[in-house]
This record gives sequence, C-alpha cells and structure tokens, in this order.
Amino acid sequence: MAALARTNSLPNSLSMNDEAEESAFARDVLKGLGARRKNLPPKYFYDGAGSQLFERITEQPEYYPTRCEMRILQDNAAAIAKLIPAGAALVEFGSGSNKKARILLTAAPVLAAYVPVDISAEMLEQEAEALQRDFPRLTIRPVAADFTQSFELPDEAKAAPLRVGFFPGSTIGNFEPHEAAAFLRNAAKILGPNATLIVGADLIKPAEFLNAAYNDAAGVTAKFNLNLLVRMNRELGGTFKLGTFEHHAFYNRERHRIEMHLASLKRQKVKVAGECFDFRAGETIHTENSYKYSVESLGALARGVGWLPAGVWMDAKKYFSIQAFTLAPDAPALRP
Ligand code: AVJ
Repeated sequence: MAALARTNSLPNSLSMNDEAEESAFARDVLKGLGARRKNLPPKYFYDGAGSQLFERITEQPEYYPTRCEMRILQDNAAAIAKLIPAGAALVEFGSGSNKKARILLTAAPVLAAYVPVDISAEMLEQEAEALQRDFPRLTIRPVAADFTQSFELPDEAKAAPLRVGFFPGSTIGNFEPHEAAAFLRNAAKILGPNATLIVGADLIKPAEFLNAAYNDAAGVTAKFNLNLLVRMNRELGGTFKLGTFEHHAFYNRERHRIEMHLASLKRQKVKVAGECFDFRAGETIHTENSYKYSVESLGALARGVGWLPAGVWMDAKKYFSIQAFTLAPDAPALRP
C-alpha cells in the first residue's frame, strides 16, 4: 500500500486546490454565458454526481461507445499490449473509471508506473484504491489535473525509458478539431521521445444510432446535461429553475458531431456567479460537442502533429475504434 499512501497526500503541484478550481469554474461560466451563443465547457459535467451519471449513461442500452470500446480492448488486449514495452510508464488521460486500463494492465508486462490523470480528484482516489487492491505490485501515481493544460508527470513516469499514453472513451471527440490537434501536440510533449499513444475514437455512422445514444429512453443523458445547472446553483449561487430548461441532443451531419444543449423553455433571467443573464424562449446553452471521426480523419489530424499510425482495432459493426500512433523522431512537439 506504500504506493497508495502517497496518493492521499498529493503535493500541491499535482493537484489543483478547490478554490482555484472553483474560481476557474466561475470564470468559465461568466465567459460562456456572456457569449452571444451561450456555451459551457463539457469538462464541468464531471462533479461527483455528474461522474456517477456518466457511469449510468454507459450502462444504457442506446449508449454503445463504452460497450464497444470495452469489447475491442478485451478482444485485442494482447495485440494492443504489444505496444507497451516492459518498464514503460502508462499515462491515462481523463481516466474516470479505470476499467479500460485494467484490461491493458492485465495484458501488459511489468510497468514502471501507471499514471491516471483526471480532473475529478474524488473519483481518482477511489479508483486508484480499488485498482491497487487488484494490482498490488503496480506502482500507481494518480495526478489530479486538467490534462488540456500542461501538468507535471510523477518522477517514476519521467524516469521510465518511455511513456505510453492512453486516451480512451472518445473524450478526444469533446474537443474542437483544432483543440484535438493541440491535445495531441501536448501529449507528444508530455510523453516525449519514442512515445506511443492509444486513442479511443467514436466513428462516423448513420444519425439514427448517434441520436439514440444521446437521447436514451431512461433520460439519464438528460439528467447528466441538466446536472450542470444543479452544479452552478450549488457552487456559484445560481438561480436556475430545473423545470425551465430541457435537454437537446442531435447529430450535426455537416460537422460530424453530436451537439448537446440546454434549452430555456421560456424567456427568463437567471443569476449565477454574481451576474444576471437573459434567456430568450428557446435560447440554448451549448454544453457539449462529441465529434465523430473516421480512421482517416483522426489519422490525418495526428499525422499533422507528428504521430504516425501504429494500429487500428474496431468492433464488428465499425461503431468504435481504438487507434494507436507512435511519435515520429522529428515530431514538431519534440523540438526545443
Ligand atoms: C465521455 C465524451 C465520451 O461524448 O459520448 C455521453 C460524454 N455526453 N453522453 C460522449 C457524453 C453525453 C461522452 N464522452
């Protein structure tokens, strides 16, 4: 348990403190709701309740991505684990639940460290504890951080001969394409020379399947979306009335993305973070984009910042993909 004891006393450099996190939330809310087209960054979905709601989404019959990805990992664990050499550090971006990493960890050789990076410190601690019980010899070094910003890797990961990044869950789809490119560049910088990156990406497919996945019959996705209002009320003194906003999710074919919005059902004023905002009837807060890729379109994005294709695995229906890349020796991100 030595490895874990350290996780409960993360040095401040590895963990954003609550105050800083809260003022970042206030800042982003004021900026997003003050915009002509109101929007909020999807990373704020994941407070305690939101993380639990997301886990429930993954259990809904319409929400195929998690099941598909788990299946791809299970069916191809040995082949994917071949990309992880003995002594490497495995760095998971936005780990949330670590059930996907478990599949790789079971198939992988002895690692220098497993480094789950997540914005939800609470989830990170719980998951690391449970993982340590099942992998007693594994060195686990969680980092509570926003991985869209730069962050410091723990010493064990820095000292390893190379680092393998793991970015499952199609979280890359939450970024605008230029932000996805920036993430890939940042990952290259963090992981360093000879790195490998294993990415889960949801694939472009007929709209009916996509629309169903983000409008589950049980209403869990709606609750997940509306939880942003609950969170603003609780943390930022918001006055949102839950019954006056509705979950909207639809596939935007031109841009290959699911859009999620919170639509105001009437004209109203709402106070939050010390400011007042007007809503027209039908006006929405754009809360999430979930971009869908093809093997070619993600490959092109990755190649643009120096990642070369190293493997692709898909489910039988080609709903979801695991795509691996290796860092080119002359990748721009490696230049000083
Ligand atoms: C966690 C980003 C993969 O885009 O499908 C699920 C989040 N939003 N239902 C996604 C989400 C609505 C999810 N990701």
